[in-house]
Amino acid sequence: MSKTTDLIFNEEIINERLRVYKPNNSLHIDSFADDVKTGLTSQNKFLLPKYFYDEKGSEYFERICETEEYYPTRTEISILKNLSDTISERNPGTNLIIELGSGSSFKTNYLLRSFLKSRRSLTYVPIDVSNILIESSRILTENYSGLSVKGVISFYEDGMDFIVSKDKATKLVLFLGSSIGNFSEEERIEFMKMLKKYMNNSDRLLIGFDLIKSKKILEDAYNDRKGFTAKFNLNIIQRINNELDGKFDLTKFRHSSVFNEEKNRIEMYLTAIEKMDVEIKGIGTSISFDKGEKIHTENSYKFNYKIINKLAEDSGMEFSDYYTDENEYFSICAFKLKAGE
Ligand code: AVJ
Repeated sequence: MSKTTDLIFNEEIINERLRVYKPNNSLHIDSFADDVKTGLTSQNKFLLPKYFYDEKGSEYFERICETEEYYPTRTEISILKNLSDTISERNPGTNLIIELGSGSSFKTNYLLRSFLKSRRSLTYVPIDVSNILIESSRILTENYSGLSVKGVISFYEDGMDFIVSKDKATKLVLFLGSSIGNFSEEERIEFMKMLKKYMNNSDRLLIGFDLIKSKKILEDAYNDRKGFTAKFNLNIIQRINNELDGKFDLTKFRHSSVFNEEKNRIEMYLTAIEKMDVEIKGIGTSISFDKGEKIHTENSYKFNYKIINKLAEDSGMEFSDYYTDENEYFSICAFKLKAGE
């Protein structure tokens, strides 16, 4: 998240309806080495899930989304498909859609199409740390003649700050894919409060939440039979090998995912199958593993109406709509500013 005060953004005009913005002091503080060092030298070893998504990791994640067991993506898409017209009709004054962590913008297609049915023009602002948004935005402007895209390649808070200071239009802010599931409770509240600063009374925030369900369905979704989740998980130590000159032997680590019913979260681990030392030159040290020792690589929180409602309350927002699918596997929720705040 981290707002880096008053960045200057460079504008690149790709075509007449597509502009891309990037902070000019290319402040990509490289914290990978620091974060790996902190995580692997702590008592209970951990790595941060945001580092899954190098090129290979993003590819594995797409494969995960296509597996039979991983229901969240396809369920969220089905909700969006059914609901896009309604969302558009309920927000008639909205001509600006901002999406945080847009990735390939695939899901957003449904919303954009619905919004453009009843509007002459619409501005879509994907905010993502990855360059991938340039190509997907170009395709969007080709597909929708009424659409202007302003892509912002930055951290969420910096991007929001930049866009909202320029464009005061009533907006819909999207945070889909249950990405919020990677945040702890405190981080979630902090995130909502950050967004609140950039919202007006008529703005809406839409968030995708994966819902609590049977342990079997949840664990299967994170242990797919084709093994893409395992590859995705192991890729994070491959990334350490690639970028930090690490010497991990991937065959010596085993993937596992368990649903922690007390904490309502899937926990993902890599477990060392034997005792070993792993040299990581890029962090200037070796890491010792006992046989059976785990690296905690991800938490993916699951929600229900009550938990989401509490999140709204704790962050001073109001819960305005709760949309779900027929199995109640996934939910898309709309939030607005609390009246009178
Ligand atoms: C992208 C964080 C929503 O938690 O379900 C998928 C990542 N990890 N399989 C999720 C993930 C393992 C995913 N999110």
